[in-house]
Order: sequence, then structure tokens, then C-alpha cells
Amino acid sequence: MTVLPLRPDLHGCEPYGAPELDVPVRLNVNENPYAPSPAVVADIAAAAGRAAAGLNRYPDRDFPDLRAALADYLAAESGVRLDWQQIWAANGSNEVMTHVLQAFGGPGRTCLSFTPTYSMYPEYARDTFTRYVTGPRREDFTVDVDAVAAAIAREHPAVVILASPNNPTGTALPLDDVVAILEAARGQGPVDAAAGDDGATDCVVVIDEAYAEFRRPGVPSALELLERTDGDGAPRYPHLAVTRTMSKAFGMAGLRLGYLAACQQLVDALRIVRLPYHLSALTQAAALAALDHRDELMSQVASLRDERDRLVSWLRAQGWTAYDSDSNFVLFGPFTDRRAVWQGLLDRGVLIRVVGPEGYLRVCVGTPAEMADFRTALTAVTSDGPHQPDRNGQNLEENPA
Ligand SMILES: Cc1ncc(COP(=O)(O)O)c(C=O)c1O
Repeated sequence: MTVLPLRPDLHGCEPYGAPELDVPVRLNVNENPYAPSPAVVADIAAAAGRAAAGLNRYPDRDFPDLRAALADYLAAESGVRLDWQQIWAANGSNEVMTHVLQAFGGPGRTCLSFTPTYSMYPEYARDTFTRYVTGPRREDFTVDVDAVAAAIAREHPAVVILASPNNPTGTALPLDDVVAILEAARGQGPVDAAAGDDGATDCVVVIDEAYAEFRRPGVPSALELLERTDGDGAPRYPHLAVTRTMSKAFGMAGLRLGYLAACQQLVDALRIVRLPYHLSALTQAAALAALDHRDELMSQVASLRDERDRLVSWLRAQGWTAYDSDSNFVLFGPFTDRRAVWQGLLDRGVLIRVVGPEGYLRVCVGTPAEMADFRTALTAVTSDGPHQPDRNGQNLEENPA
């Protein structure tokens, strides 16, 4: 066997990924369980067909039409009107956030996040030679703003990433906390000789809103902060970036389309590092066609939210701790042997995820029929012996979150 010159820091690393298993009930990667309707499929196929006729040419590098359509969608969803130049997109929000670290991270620079959180953040950092530093979330998975401010002042990170709602806990950040973190980030980025007299930079704060559309009524989006301006009309938070995706509420995980909203200066920095023509003509055409059907594609979001809230109540009624969630999944437990519970569910055709704090499992919200299968399987797996909730102990807490 040949010996390849793999980068030393990649020795022993495994490719990221949840198990891809062909089982009847797949509730492990936070997808939308509802497939697009035949009418939507037909429109996407027709749009892809028209794009195919021009595939001898490279696609539109800056794709203003798609960026404008995404801006329209955000205006409808969150009431925040942005220019198309304030939107960026790539193959999933994973790629969008990699662009952020390519542009602002790099050797000698730091990315800060707060755990437990999405397991890809360290990989974006590794792949861009950015140092990855974490602090803890509170026991209820909210963030302690003072601790975040202290960590920013200590580390001078180029980028802070905070998921809201957070994966795997479902916890959303209050807007006041985001504002406090943005204020703490002013002038606290890495020193950059090109930045002026004192070399001070503002650390970029990414609010990862992959699951935002599932948030409960009254829970705000950080997009609102992009509208705020100072007296002179300049954006008040030019160091804020909000990432979104079509993979979750939109039900288009297979499309690979994630996007970001920020001030134009930040978006233009991302345009420097993207590979030329990174978004294929087929992706652009399919995304535009899907956005034309946004109402239909999003029509199940309300019922998924209801199903999620029913799931939390049911889990608690069984004696488990289940955290309040603003996303399409629920973290629950604790189990003395969570892997055995996971395996027991899998043996019954239900795939969920071993992720998050020790003892806990994460289940994504599926169709009512899938959730019924999950409840039946969990009841069977936990009906005896070691997997039962401790009825005298913490499992019976009503809502520790
Ligand atoms: C918190 C969070 N952010 C981002 C992503 C990436 O989504 P995508 O690359 O499909 O847009 C995920 C996917 O599960 C996620 O959980």
C-alpha cells in the first residue's frame, strides 16, 4: 500500500457523518420528513432542464437572481428587508460558514464557540487552519453572556459562532443576548496592522439559524439586528452574519443550498475566497424554482412544530427529561447506557442520534406515523430494567431547561 503525504493534523481523523442506514423510520439528521409534491418536483425538473441546455457555459458567478429571491424569502419569513448584495449562498450553510472562516480565520487566528453545539464547527476551523476554542453553555444550554464577553476579551477571536436554535439542544438565544455579544465583540477581534492606528478589528459574530423557521411564536431572529443603523445610516452591527439553510424547514436537504445575511462589506469578503462558479447552474435553477413554491414547501412547518411540542410532553409524561426546543428535534434522557437504547430503537427500525451531553439522545420530528413508531419503539426498549427513568430522581423534573 502506498504512503500518501496526508497533512499531519489529519492523521487519525475520520470523515464526518451520521450513520446512513436504510431503515423504515429515519429521525437522525434533522431533515424535513415531507417530500416535495409532484407539482413542485415537476417545476424543479423543468427549471433544471432549461439550465441543462446551457451547461456548456459556466454558471453565473455572483447569482444576483437567486440572492434576490432569498432576500424576498427572508422579508416574507422574518419581516426583514435586505438588499440582494447582503445575501451570500453556497452548497449548504456548511460551505457558507467555511467561507466565513476562510475569509476571517486562518493561521494565528481563533474561532470561538460554546458547547454542546454543532459538531461541524471544529471541522470548519481545522480545514482553514484556524484555532478552535470552546467555552461551556450553562446547564440549561443557554449562554452566559458575561462568560462569552470574557472569553472574547481573552481570546480575541476572529469569529464567534453561536447556533440559535442550537443543535443538539434546541435552545434559542434571546435577542438581548445577541446584542450584548455583538457589543462585546466590538474592537476585540485579532489585531490587524492594516486595520488602522491601533490595529483593532471587530470580531465577526455568526448566528447559525439553520432551524430558525421552527422557532416558537415570539422568539425573534437575529436578522432583525441587520436592519438597525446608527445615526449616519451605517449598519450598527457590520460584524454580524446570520446563516440560514434550505435543508431543514424548506425540506430541500438534497439541494445543498445554504445562505447568509450580513452587511455588504462582509458578504464581499466572502466573495474573495469562494471557488469560482461554486454554485452550479443546476443548483441555482432548482433553488429558484423551489423558492417559487416556498409557501407549499413550508406548509408543514406548523404541524412539525405541534408534533415537536407533543413529543416533548409525551417524553416528560414517560418520566424522561426533554428539553424545550425551538427546532425540529428534541434532546432527551438521561440513559445510563444511551448507546444500548439507540441500538434497541434501531433494532425496531427507528434511527435516531447519539449526540450531545453524556446520557442523552436526539430525535428529529417526523410524520405523525413515524413519531408513533418512535414512541412504540422507545416504550418497548425502556419498559424494563436498566433503561427505565429513575422515578425518584432527576428524570421526573418538569422542565430543567
Ligand atoms: C446547527 C446547524 N448548522 C448548520 C447545518 C448545516 O446545514 P446545511 O449545510 O445542510 O445547510 C446543520 C445541519 O444539520 C446544523 O445542525
